[in-house]
Amino acid sequence: MAETQQTITGAVDPDVLEYTVGEDPVLDLELAEWDCLGTAAHVTMLSRMPVSPPVVTPEEAAAVKRELALLVAESRRGEFRILESDQDVHMAVERRLTEKLGDLGRKIHTGRSRNDQVAVDVRLHVKDRLLGLMGEAAALARGLLRFGRAHDRVPLAGRTHLQPAMPSSVGTWASGHAEMLLDQFFALEAAYSMNDLCPLGSAAGYGVPLPLDRKLVSDLLGFARPIHNVFGASMARGEDEAALLSALAQTMLVLSRLAEDLIIFSMPEFGYFRLPREYCTGSSIMPQKYNPDLLELVRSKTALVCGMASAAFTTLHAMPGGYNRDLQDVKGIYMKGLATVRSSLRILARLAARLEIDPERLRAGFVPGVFATDAALKMVAAGTPWREAYHYVRSHLEDLSAGDPDEAVAAKTHEGATAGLDWDMYEKRVAQAEESVRGRAAAFRARMDALLPA
Ligand code: ARG
Repeated sequence: MAETQQTITGAVDPDVLEYTVGEDPVLDLELAEWDCLGTAAHVTMLSRMPVSPPVVTPEEAAAVKRELALLVAESRRGEFRILESDQDVHMAVERRLTEKLGDLGRKIHTGRSRNDQVAVDVRLHVKDRLLGLMGEAAALARGLLRFGRAHDRVPLAGRTHLQPAMPSSVGTWASGHAEMLLDQFFALEAAYSMNDLCPLGSAAGYGVPLPLDRKLVSDLLGFARPIHNVFGASMARGEDEAALLSALAQTMLVLSRLAEDLIIFSMPEFGYFRLPREYCTGSSIMPQKYNPDLLELVRSKTALVCGMASAAFTTLHAMPGGYNRDLQDVKGIYMKGLATVRSSLRILARLAARLEIDPERLRAGFVPGVFATDAALKMVAAGTPWREAYHYVRSHLEDLSAGDPDEAVAAKTHEGATAGLDWDMYEKRVAQAEESVRGRAAAFRARMDALLPA
């Protein structure tokens, strides 16, 4: 018989163990703190469960929580270890508690499965990281709005198909990108709400013949409510991460278009914007180079995050109901997605704070054609029907002269145009986003802190 390796759930062929464990011993380190907190809530609930004899007494629950607090501290110091024979963080925590507390450690998994345990760990981890990410998104929106407001009416030749189109402004450009980002909060908030549900108590996906208080566990962990149906709760794993990645991909799409605009407008041929030199990288051969690598990487990372969302969707597709090990493979993807989007938001916010403009080059972009539509509209104001005016200007393009960019910017006063931007509304929206993130993060932290002894 081939050699086997002993695990807490039985003997397994070492090659099979290595393949099935995959990256879990590394990835699960990110979940260690959340696994301890989820366990603290579960043990608290077990100690209040009306069964005789009790599964664990309140004193025993307190002893478990003291050990869990030490494990959390160990994890925060980066010293928590997961062995291959543990397979994952859940078994590593149980092993450590058992080493310290003996039989008491062997009781903590009563009424729980790793399926609902990992699902709750993921949701706590997502909540923590998503709130951080939303804070960075608000900061980038704020940075873009500050930049836009500082150069509000500075003319910028608007483009369609990348061709000169119509008079616009730096304020319109910057607040346009900022507003797109603020609108992503609809998707991010939806992902947050979907994630804010507690799967614990569903166990393997079919519940247990014990009087579990699922509402108590959900409240202790600060979730909005339990996922009611136990089978549904087991299937919500993966769906949760897919919804998150979908919102993350949408958010990245906003960033990549911003990055692309910055690459183009900072090219020497345009020179509208100046990227700070220390935000560009050099060439090993061409001494003159200051390249916008960071913006190119925002573009490539957008493609990667879209791929991650797609990978999550296709992992779920055609997977039967109930837990399947496929779900483990979504873990690394969502973690990488969160980290990628967050770092992209952060670096762009720093860049926005240092971005400079060249008003001369911006005005020089106003070639006569940029005024063509305005010229036709002047004829309309004098009574010419629109289509006639359009054709007149189109057949006399060579007669078109460049107008005054500043006048053109001042002339568009309707809502959201160059002279009609509502900066106070933007300020309110960004403040509201910041306030919501801050409030949620503080409430979440308070719940987590209350779970374990200081
Ligand atoms: N590491 C596993 C995962 O991420 C934990 C759950 C294992 N459950 C099981 N039934 N094998 O999915």
